[in-house]
Amino acid sequence: METIERKIKTLQAERRAVIMAHNYTRGEVQDIADYVGDSLELARLATRVEAEVIVFCGVHFMAETAAILNPGLPVLMPDLHAGCPMANMITPKELIVWKAEHPDVMVVAYVNSTADIKAEVDVCCTSANAVEVVRSLGDAEVLFVPDQYLGHYVQTQLGKKLHLWPGYCPTHRRILEKDIDESRTAHPDALVVVHPECTPQVIQQADHVGSTSGILRFCNQSSAEEFIIGTEIGLLHRLKRENPDKIFYPASELADCPDMKLATLEKIYWSLRDMEYEVSVPEKIALRARRPIERMLEIFA
Ligand code: 13P
Ligand code: SF4
Repeated sequence: METIERKIKTLQAERRAVIMAHNYTRGEVQDIADYVGDSLELARLATRVEAEVIVFCGVHFMAETAAILNPGLPVLMPDLHAGCPMANMITPKELIVWKAEHPDVMVVAYVNSTADIKAEVDVCCTSANAVEVVRSLGDAEVLFVPDQYLGHYVQTQLGKKLHLWPGYCPTHRRILEKDIDESRTAHPDALVVVHPECTPQVIQQADHVGSTSGILRFCNQSSAEEFIIGTEIGLLHRLKRENPDKIFYPASELADCPDMKLATLEKIYWSLRDMEYEVSVPEKIALRARRPIERMLEIFA
C-alpha cells in the first residue's frame, strides 16, 4: 500500500506546491516539509519560493505573513484552527487606544500578532532579531506588543525601557524556574538554552538565549554534549536529528503547544487534495501590514 508520505509527494508535485513547517511542528511533518525553520527564516523564504501554492504547517499568523508577502499566491493551512493564543492577547481596538495614549511613539510588533495588529505598527520583529530591530530605532520611545517577556528580554539586552503590552506565550510560561533548577541538579554538565518567550526568571538562569533556529545553531556548534532546552518540545526533533551524539532534555514536558501540533500528515494530504484551507487577508489590511514586515526584512536583508 502506498504510504501517506508518498501520496503527499505525488500530489505535491502535481500541484507544484511547497511545504513549509515551523520548528515546533510534529516530527513527521518536519520530515516531509521542503523547508523547516524559525519565524524569520520562514518569512524570508516566503518572499522567494517558486511554487504555485504554499502549504504552511505552523500557526495562523505565520501563514498570514506568507500570504501578505506573496499576494496572488495561495497559502493553505492543513488546519485553520491552528492559532497562537499570544497573538490574540491584543485587539486592534486596544492597540489604537494605547497608541492614542502615547502619541508619536514608535510601535514594534512581534510577528506573533495578527495582520490587523501589524497594519497598525511601524516595524515587526521576530525572536531572532527583536534586539536588533529595537536597537535600530535609536533613542525613540517604543511600544512593544504583544509579548511582555520578549520585550523584557530586549530591555535587558539594550538597557532601555520599553512600554510592554502584557501578553505572553502560555506554552513558554509553563516552563518554571524550578524546572531549570531541578534539571540542572539532575544534569550538572548540561548547558541551559532557552527561548526569549520564557519568563525573565527562566531567562536569567540560561547559558544561552535564542530563537528556535538560534537554539539549533548554538547546540550544533557547541562542544558541550548535554543541553537542557527551554522552549516548545517540538524543537527537540531537529536538535536530536542534527546532533545524534548529543543529549537533549526538555526543561519541561509541559511546554507543548497544541496549536503547533494540529498539522498532521493526513491533513497535509487533504489540504493538497482539496486545495484547502486558504488563508486570506483583506487587501486593505495586507497592504498596511506588509510595510512593517518588509521594514524588518530590509533591516536584516
Ligand atoms: P521562532 O521560531 O521565531 O523562535 O518563534 C517561536 C514561536 O513561538 C513561534 O510561535
Ligand atoms: Fe503561540 Fe507560544 Fe504556540 Fe508559539 S509556542 S504558537 S507563541 S502559543
